Amino acid sequence: MEEMVNRCYVFEPVDLDVKDFASEGLILDIGGGGEGVIGRLKGKEVVAIDLLREELEEAAEGPLKMVMDARDLKFLDNSFTTATAFFSMMYLDEREDQRKVLAEAWRVLKAGGRLHLWDIDLAGRPETEKEMYLVHLRYHIGGEMKETGYGRRWPQEPRGAEDYIRLAEEAGFQHIATERTKHVFYLVFAKPVQGRC
Ligand SMILES: C[S@@+](CC[C@H](N)C(=O)[O-])C[C@H]1O[C@@H](n2cnc3c(N)ncnc32)[C@H](O)[C@@H]1O
Repeated sequence: MEEMVNRCYVFEPVDLDVKDFASEGLILDIGGGGEGVIGRLKGKEVVAIDLLREELEEAAEGPLKMVMDARDLKFLDNSFTTATAFFSMMYLDEREDQRKVLAEAWRVLKAGGRLHLWDIDLAGRPETEKEMYLVHLRYHIGGEMKETGYGRRWPQEPRGAEDYIRLAEEAGFQHIATERTKHVFYLVFAKPVQGRC
């Protein structure tokens, strides 16, 4: 962790309230390994998929855990009413991979389903020599607070909330809401009932 911090530009810590959200049936959590925050929030309602087995093994018990590539989901069309991506999009280095994940999320969601997406706003990259960045989160679920850090190489292109909204709209989603906490954002999208608009 210390070595990681030395290589990283560390963003100011963020206190993020991970609020419960309405959902019906199973929730698909994309990149749900690691801290498994959505699994902590929603427990057995969650199907957590992750590319890496060890990340799923590390995550808290509760969700059904499956090793799967979010760019090529093995679920049938219209399987879920809710999908989540909690600081997972930042781990997709290529914009094309982000597009694929959003297209797959759209495909497996039922019409009227929701996608909840939390991530870091990298639109205005700070001036730094550091090759990577680290998001230092103090996340609050119910009355409990936990601390974690998510680190990655700087992406080639700007990645702000508006860029994610545009990408999700290109995939067919409708943007419903944005909440910001410092440099962290929470976006909610819907799959329109009439299909692509
Ligand atoms: C560090 S976690 C992010 C936080 C996690 N959602 C949590 O609650 O702690 C990001 C995860 O995305 C996973 N990931 C990256 N690319 C992926 C892909 N193509 N398909 C599925 N998971 C992927 C990584 O393996 C990693 O476990």
